[in-house]
Amino acid sequence: MARRKKVYEGKAKILYEGPEPGTLVQYFKDDATAFNAEKKATIDGKGVLNNRLSEFFMSGLNAVGVPTHFIRRINMREQLIRAVEIIPLEVVVRNVAAGSISKRLGIEEGTPLPRPIVEFYFKNDELGDPMVSEEHIIAFGWATQQDLDDMVSLALRVNDFLSGLMLGVGIKLVDFKIEIGRIWDGDYMRLIVADEISPDSCRLWDIESGRKLDKDVFRRDLGDLADAYTEVARRLGVMPTGPQGAVKPTLIN
Ligand code: TMP
Repeated sequence: MARRKKVYEGKAKILYEGPEPGTLVQYFKDDATAFNAEKKATIDGKGVLNNRLSEFFMSGLNAVGVPTHFIRRINMREQLIRAVEIIPLEVVVRNVAAGSISKRLGIEEGTPLPRPIVEFYFKNDELGDPMVSEEHIIAFGWATQQDLDDMVSLALRVNDFLSGLMLGVGIKLVDFKIEIGRIWDGDYMRLIVADEISPDSCRLWDIESGRKLDKDVFRRDLGDLADAYTEVARRLGVMPTGPQGAVKPTLIN
């Protein structure tokens, strides 16, 4: 078989040309990075878990009418997605203070926020993804006012869906990041959820114990990252379970 053309390689994923125009294959690596790749590791099974979890979240969103780039999973590490033009913004929604908002504004981690807060960060590794305002976004032409309204609405719908899903399995959705892309149907442009939704891009806390089940386990050296992600997958019924509980992610096809 001819070698596929690599379209893009990021820190945790690779995009290859898809089988049909307008599609891409998204490959999930085992690499984990934090603090703009200052901290790096390879975590066995992370790519498999994130491929499954992102499939689960994105197909659920598609099913409730929140459009995403997800088409179907291909194998353990790959999924077929719609090619989009990524808007160069990270859209963060916060329900509870943690991470950078706690640091920046001096709000103790774990403080519930009065309402979900949507923030935008300019996707630029050299600059360390700085936070930007709607004024910056419009002035620099990264998105229009209409796009921004649609992005906030998409982000809040994702928040409602994911929060409910997580609550059902005893997990608090503290915050998350999504990326949004443009697709064209003829002359008509739409915004859809792209990239991935996984414990790499969310904060997930066990409601009972407060145990962290997301990438903070890696960022803050709190234990085994694959164990935490496996726990999320197990609770959501995403990974098949054997008599001893969750099957090792590397064994699953
Ligand atoms: P923050 O508190 O560090 O700003 O992170 C907010 C959320 O965004 C958290 O769920 C982790 C996620 N996130 C990413 O997915 N990628 C990133 O590069 C950063 C900084 C955060």
